[in-house]
Amino acid sequence: MRKNLVAANWKMHGSKAGINRLLTAIKAELPSAGCEVLLCPPAVYLEQVQKELQGTQIALGAQNAYPGDEGAFTGEVAFAMLPEFDCSHVIIGHSERREIFAESDEFIAQKFAAAQEHGLTPILCIGESQTERENAETEKVVLGQLQAVLDKVGIAAFADAVIAYEPIWAIGTGLTASPQQAQEVHAVIRDFLSGQDQNIAEGITILYGGSVKGANASELFQQPDIDGGLVGGASLKAEEFITICKSFN
Ligand code: 13P
Repeated sequence: MRKNLVAANWKMHGSKAGINRLLTAIKAELPSAGCEVLLCPPAVYLEQVQKELQGTQIALGAQNAYPGDEGAFTGEVAFAMLPEFDCSHVIIGHSERREIFAESDEFIAQKFAAAQEHGLTPILCIGESQTERENAETEKVVLGQLQAVLDKVGIAAFADAVIAYEPIWAIGTGLTASPQQAQEVHAVIRDFLSGQDQNIAEGITILYGGSVKGANASELFQQPDIDGGLVGGASLKAEEFITICKSFN
């Protein structure tokens, strides 16, 4: 089901005290948000956030996991462990994981499948670099990343998934894609899925990510194929994040 969603990707930020302060502000303000709200803290803080979100409508997700149920994978967290913390979502294929940790399309597809095996909704991130955009390769790159996952899991699996279009050049740079630029790519993604299954294409939530802030969220979210945001830096500032979540009102 297509929903308006704002997801916070805290990346590698936070402390117990800082998270407590942030959550106190968010919990006080967000009951009136016109969208679903999801928080993705670093894995070590999942239990703290789980406890602090009890009794609220705010959902919890993870930023990453490893597709083995258990075993000798030092340092990794399994998808199988996440439901114990009431996680409903997990971010897959973020460009930082693709670039810094050399995650391949195939590995990301494996993670997508593993997330769903454990009842988690994958948030699949796709997006082009600055050079790829300049070379007019945006569509090719984004649809290629999507196709790699489709090849493994099939279109039916996208009935319970979220896609996040995150142009790499807009992440953490303060350079936001214009609402028109973002809408154009979102429409390409939805059209592409529509060629395989119209109902799934209509129903899927497609988020935009890349320097979303209080000042630009509303214009982005008004675009017909933008169903919300995956927010990095601005999700660490209570006031900014609350403004973003209220941009649908
Ligand atoms: P920023 O909002 O900091 O640009 O990060 C976007 C992002 O990568 C969310 O996953």
